[in-house]
Amino acid sequence: MVVSQIDVIKADDLFKIECLETIDSTSEEIKRRLNKIPETPEYLVVWALNQTQGKGRRGKVWVSDEGNLFFSVLLRPQCLISYAAQINFVACLALRDALLPYKVDPQFKWPNDVMVDQAKIAGILLESDAGFDANVNWLIMGIGVNLKSSPSHAPYKTTSLYEASGTLYAPQKILEDFLIAFDKRYKNWQETGLSDLRDEWIKSSIYQKGDKITIQSDKPIIGYFEDLTEKGAILLRSIDKDKQLMTINAGDIVMSR
Ligand code: BTN
Repeated sequence: MVVSQIDVIKADDLFKIECLETIDSTSEEIKRRLNKIPETPEYLVVWALNQTQGKGRRGKVWVSDEGNLFFSVLLRPQCLISYAAQINFVACLALRDALLPYKVDPQFKWPNDVMVDQAKIAGILLESDAGFDANVNWLIMGIGVNLKSSPSHAPYKTTSLYEASGTLYAPQKILEDFLIAFDKRYKNWQETGLSDLRDEWIKSSIYQKGDKITIQSDKPIIGYFEDLTEKGAILLRSIDKDKQLMTINAGDIVMSR
């Protein structure tokens, strides 16, 4: 059931926000819309008060407790699919912009975790489809933000905006703040590309150059954080004598020292 339809008017773009009471997954809902109407315009936002089958990265479940924020945005960036992962950085920075006024100092954990006090407060799931020319056809940016509570049994530390700031904020307010911030960041990315954003992202990363980290990909990979590539991969310097640079495209940082 659609609870409400809200238009957020900003500079010159218009996000169409649909608020649903309960859905399996806001990202799956956008996929269903695309199946029905492939030319569904970008900037459609599906926001749900309850998610019954929230999806995380790498096939994980996103615990979706009521009072938290769950939404997905349909985008149609004009870029090659191999550059689509850059939108992770755009979204991380926009989440930081949106949460900063609420007495927290969000940091990032590659590739797309937003952390407060070294614990995960938000996650981003990008799913995309490309045409034969390798250009992005659609991209669904699904975001979950722990506002009221955070899962206590996750295999990593979690927090919520309530726990970190002592105040309970309404999902709609944080969603609108995010969209306003994202609009600016997304335009900036479209005009100038990743380089400035990458520097800004690294400044707020919980890992800095030289930090030793372990990435759980198909197998654990240990190295020293070096940089991020243009395509959003992480560059690690090997701990072996040869100190070679390794490019890791996907994985989760599981340990650091
Ligand atoms: C992660 O693993 O960190 C990414 C989590 C993304 C969760 C959000 S909640 C809204 C959207 N719908 C989903 O099913 N997943 C994303």
